[in-house]
Amino acid sequence: MVKASTALLPFKIPFTTYWHGIQGRKVLAQYFQSILTERRQKPSSDILGELCLARNEDGAQLSDEDIINHLIFLLMAAHDTTASTLTSLFYELAAHPEWQEKLREESRAFAQSGEMRFERLVELKYLDLAIKETLRLHTPLIMIPRKTTQTLEFGAYTLPPDTALSILIHHHHYEGQIFEQPEQFDPLRFDEARTEHKKCPHAYVPFGGGKHHCIGYSFAEMQIKLVMHQILLRYQWNIAPGYQMVYRHIPIQEPKDGLPVLLSSIG
Ligand code: HEM
Repeated sequence: MVKASTALLPFKIPFTTYWHGIQGRKVLAQYFQSILTERRQKPSSDILGELCLARNEDGAQLSDEDIINHLIFLLMAAHDTTASTLTSLFYELAAHPEWQEKLREESRAFAQSGEMRFERLVELKYLDLAIKETLRLHTPLIMIPRKTTQTLEFGAYTLPPDTALSILIHHHHYEGQIFEQPEQFDPLRFDEARTEHKKCPHAYVPFGGGKHHCIGYSFAEMQIKLVMHQILLRYQWNIAPGYQMVYRHIPIQEPKDGLPVLLSSIG
């Protein structure tokens, strides 16, 4: 389904990427429909339960179709973006073993200093900086499509209403006037002493901006921290000398070759 969102041929011709996406969507819609009646009677404590209880401005419940559409969108928005970030972080930490070790030390100290609680995750400061830098270098969504609703003056350009345009996040993140040596993996650029990303509003936008800013960014950061913290405590990993990850950029950044690594357990 995610791949179908950027399919070159958006026609329902059997066995094309688009067709597979449509089939996948049907499977999900049928599955959600099959559990919806029961969940409406007994709402669960998850997002599906919340959507069953939600009311619009007139006090009406969301239709089955609305709930199914929201769930399918959430799956698309939440899963692959988070997986993409973890994959790129895994790669950068293999390419920069000194950072991998620094984060492992931080995770060990964190694990030994008390029980895991959400409020304590801020203590994983270097991991936080490494996640930010990974989201800059390998932003999962490289561009955001938009359409003008009114005439827009931008620099020397005048765009009439209804013009399709793309915001290329990837381009913002490699802007040399904002980020020093933008090609380098340098998590400390986000540290309080430097805060390069604050030089200009919207210079750093892995989660978008404005009205449609990602609603799941905090949840995504929490998940990435939790997963990486556990991996750092249990494993050490390397890539082959000289290996460079080659990306498939759309619809969501991922390694073309599945990112081969050598993973070893830590005693
Ligand atoms: C690292 C992980 C993630 C990245 C990089 C990311 C990125 C983005 C971006 C760039 C947008 C803006 C799209 C636009 O302006 O058209 C967005 C919107 C959105 N994201 Fe995320 N996202 C992530 C994780 C999540 C998670 C975990 C959830 C849900 C639990 C989520 C839910 C949403 C939703 C519902 C929107 C639409 C908001 C709206 O249109 O008002 N995202 N995300």
